[in-house]
Amino acid sequence: MKSMINAILTEHSSSCKNTGRGWAPVNIALCKYWGKRDESINLPLTDSLSISLGKLGAQTEIAPAGTDCFTLNGELLDTNAKAAVRLRRFLDPFRTATVPGFELKSQSDVPLAAGLASSASGFAALVMALNDLFSWSLTKRELSILARLGSGSASRSVYEGFVQWHAGNQSDGMDSFAEQLPYTWPALRVGLLMLSSSEKPIGSREGMRRTTATSELYKVWPAKVAASMAALKVALELHDFDALGAAAESNALAMHATMIDSWPPVLYWLPESVSAMQKVWAAREAGLSLYFTMDAGPNIKLLYEAHNEAAVREIFPAVQMVLPFSD
Ligand code: PMV
Repeated sequence: MKSMINAILTEHSSSCKNTGRGWAPVNIALCKYWGKRDESINLPLTDSLSISLGKLGAQTEIAPAGTDCFTLNGELLDTNAKAAVRLRRFLDPFRTATVPGFELKSQSDVPLAAGLASSASGFAALVMALNDLFSWSLTKRELSILARLGSGSASRSVYEGFVQWHAGNQSDGMDSFAEQLPYTWPALRVGLLMLSSSEKPIGSREGMRRTTATSELYKVWPAKVAASMAALKVALELHDFDALGAAAESNALAMHATMIDSWPPVLYWLPESVSAMQKVWAAREAGLSLYFTMDAGPNIKLLYEAHNEAAVREIFPAVQMVLPFSD
């Protein structure tokens, strides 16, 4: 990992300011990333495609310090906390003789580790804060590669709007970065259904490991991704919402099928998740253009357009409506 970081940083200055700041949006994948070809530098087996959630994200501030001190959402992290260990490891390659530690404060708009992409926005915001702290002036592509090292999906949180993460095929990971796609969709809404905010029992790293090692169904996942990517691109090009929603929902269900097919099984759904899916299907049957996606957690993300806001709220009164393209 260190050599990769050096390859990116060699041509950039690294003077250190008093404080660095960064902000990055949460992103939700419409075509999922599930499975790594190299765990050590988070290289994915397939491409993925996401939508960033407008103003919903993470704000991070970082300052040089003698020893590490991390505060997440106003709470000081215990040195041995899982999140602290992960952050420390991520920050290790950036330490210098004059900057042996970091004081980090991060505020996230979504609960941590509940399958709502808090780590994606968190690591992307952290990389942006480091870029500011050390005045590196990195390109978006370089920021995406660095963010990927913290959490794969963080590679996509460096951008707003629709984003594609290219899996790449080099072993050094320099061709595995995300890029913004040239589409906007002002009427698009993402509805967050918070069914549980507790930490997920199986992290995405372990979930992916188990799926790629044991699931027979996973063998057809790359073909599913290729089909989903093609369908999503056509839907974006034609601005066809039903095609977009159907491709996203079908891709998410296929990912969950590979998880359930793993041994021991990986099932993130709660009874409430299934009940929400059934409500979506019933609404669609009745003519409403409503779809869902879900990640490595029990929460559901609804996909619909602005003109259906009231109808969606009637079915899901607690939905948090997000405008990915608000300014
Ligand atoms: O970036 P990670 O390691 O948290 O994995 C994210 C995996 C999913 O959220 C399930 C899918 C995705 O593409 O975001």
